[in-house]
Amino acid sequence: MNAPTASTAVIGALAKKDVANHFHPYTNLRAIEKDAPLMIVAGDGIEVIDDTGKRYIEGMAGLWCASLGFSEKRLGEAAKRQMDVLPYYHSFSGKAHNVVAEVSEKLMSLAPTQALREGRVIFANSGSEANDTAFKLVRYYHNAIGKPLKKKIIARAKGYHGVTVATASLSGIPTMHQHFDLPIDGVLRVGCPHPYQFAKDGESPEHFATRLAEELEALILAEGPDTIGGFIAEPVQGAGGVIVPPPTYFEKVQAILKKYEILFIADEVITGFGRTGNLFGSQTFNLEPDLLTTAKMITSAYAPFSALYVSGKIYQACADASASVGVFGHGYTYSGHPLGCAIALETLKIYEERNIVGHVRDVAPNFQHGLQQFAGHAIIGDVRSVGLIGAVELAEDPTARKPFDPKRGVGAYLVRRAQEHGLILRVMGGDIVAFSPPLIITEAEIAEMMKRFARALEDTVAWLKVQ
Ligand SMILES: Cc1ncc(COP(=O)(O)O)c(C=O)c1O
Repeated sequence: MNAPTASTAVIGALAKKDVANHFHPYTNLRAIEKDAPLMIVAGDGIEVIDDTGKRYIEGMAGLWCASLGFSEKRLGEAAKRQMDVLPYYHSFSGKAHNVVAEVSEKLMSLAPTQALREGRVIFANSGSEANDTAFKLVRYYHNAIGKPLKKKIIARAKGYHGVTVATASLSGIPTMHQHFDLPIDGVLRVGCPHPYQFAKDGESPEHFATRLAEELEALILAEGPDTIGGFIAEPVQGAGGVIVPPPTYFEKVQAILKKYEILFIADEVITGFGRTGNLFGSQTFNLEPDLLTTAKMITSAYAPFSALYVSGKIYQACADASASVGVFGHGYTYSGHPLGCAIALETLKIYEERNIVGHVRDVAPNFQHGLQQFAGHAIIGDVRSVGLIGAVELAEDPTARKPFDPKRGVGAYLVRRAQEHGLILRVMGGDIVAFSPPLIITEAEIAEMMKRFARALEDTVAWLKVQ
């Protein structure tokens, strides 16, 4: 065995136990064996507390999800009430239970478009599973309507849609494919609507959007429109680097999808329930999806739960097809789990009672202005945001849009310094630092978050000078 290094020597008892037993997701597994995870033991409002008692502002709401922060007692109480009455039941083969009926009705009343309001909602336990279900419905629907060749799905570079075999394939992030033998056949890729990285010099955002739409249409024509069944997009690409699409992008893309009768899957796993200043990103960006997936903030992340809206057109075709084969052969043991349903119902009630979307709109200008103050900084090339989601993109030479060499780990260093200063953020591919705080964040807390970020940025500049 190797002699312990300085860092292994300081691993606390809990952390030691963790690294000895836990196969960490989304982590460099060798690095964590040495460096030890940050052990979080409690939550309080928008803060989490580690095993030494240190408090951190959770600038990412965990993984874009803990909208009501980390100590909303009403959600625990709703969970307890449900567990006492009916801890489990399912919705297979002619069964259902009261809370799944109630949450279905509530969600349908909130659906952002008429086409979805005429449909149904189907449940799963995660964003991945909801998107996986959407992937399968693209197949089921086209078989049902007698277009069995119309199956390929177009997804975008830097998209993130989950980690199942199908949804990791839809995702456009290389580390999700390497060593997994992904993507699977039938997934096609188009460019990412990120003007800062991909617009040509002098190209306006609108021209850039036109170019991407033309690229999409060219791919459809090259493959044959009769072979393309779906297109999936996040209204704002989160894990790809908080990419806010340029004006006219979705308008142009949707016109093409309609023209070739291609189903539009809006992945609202991170934008659903208020993040962009409307209940759905589809409202912020005028989307008219055929399928819309939600997860995360549907329960403020207090239970694994997800919901997929299915338009009336798709539902009716699936219903006919299921009648002809005898069953709709899909569903999870925990689809519409009573615990998730009860927590989702209480979360949605709180959103309404406290007007959380109104709150997001009230504080968003403050958040966006707070980020914008870093625009023009010596190592920041781009700042972008919508509602309460945003990012700063680091650059070695901002005017030339030249990134740092990824091997230098500048973004990772900045995020480590932020953590030192009591702020948890996340770095994404290309040295992009993301912000997605709990939706309940106040203006004073936003100011404090920006202050801590500014300190981390200063530390990073000083570190770069001695590199
Ligand atoms: C846009 C988007 N879709 C899907 C997923 C997958 O959700 P889950 O991790 O719950 O499977 C995520 C996770 O971050 C996401 O950001």
